[in-house]
Amino acid sequence: MYETNGSCIYYSEDIKVSVERTFVAIKPDGVERGIIGEVIKRFESRGLKLVGMKLMKLSNEKAQEHYGEHKGKPFFDGLVSFITAGPIVAMVWEGKGAIALCRSTIGATNPAQAAPGTIRGDLAVEIGRNVVHGSDGPESAKREIGIFFSESEVCAEWPRAVDKWVSE
Ligand code: RTP
Ligand code: MG
Repeated sequence: MYETNGSCIYYSEDIKVSVERTFVAIKPDGVERGIIGEVIKRFESRGLKLVGMKLMKLSNEKAQEHYGEHKGKPFFDGLVSFITAGPIVAMVWEGKGAIALCRSTIGATNPAQAAPGTIRGDLAVEIGRNVVHGSDGPESAKREIGIFFSESEVCAEWPRAVDKWVSE
């Protein structure tokens, strides 16, 4: 049973934990470089649960809405051109502390400063080609999931065999 106000409560036979959802996207550079699997693997292996996913090409309007907080900044137009240049993989990941976990798995915005072991620290070199996006807080997670996914497209009510070994 779920409460879907951005975070939710997950009940299963033997665990009951508060979990969050977060929006993650593999940007066009990651898709066209053929590292979709490599990126998804990092979140999956960390112990997060994939509850929504689609390959899609972003319209200019949707890209501007998604990155609305950056409107007016010098890099905004380039960012919108980049994110609409090819398909992205839009995803919703769920888990305890999922927002912060995804951000730490992704690494610092500028790959040159991202720690080795993070996605950006291992797979990217430039701030404008940093492979992946992750929501930066509960409000943006809720807003961004709403931009990309309808309620029926989020598929969370399935048990993962590993759940009881990841959360306590
Ligand atoms: P994202 O939203 O894509 O997950 O990245 P982020 O939270 O780590 O960084 P954010 O500040 O939200 O910036 C969004 C994207 O804009 C590009 N950017 N360029 N040239 C610059 O100074 C600059 N600053 C940001 C990056 O591609 C960043 O991912
Ligand atoms: Mg951001």
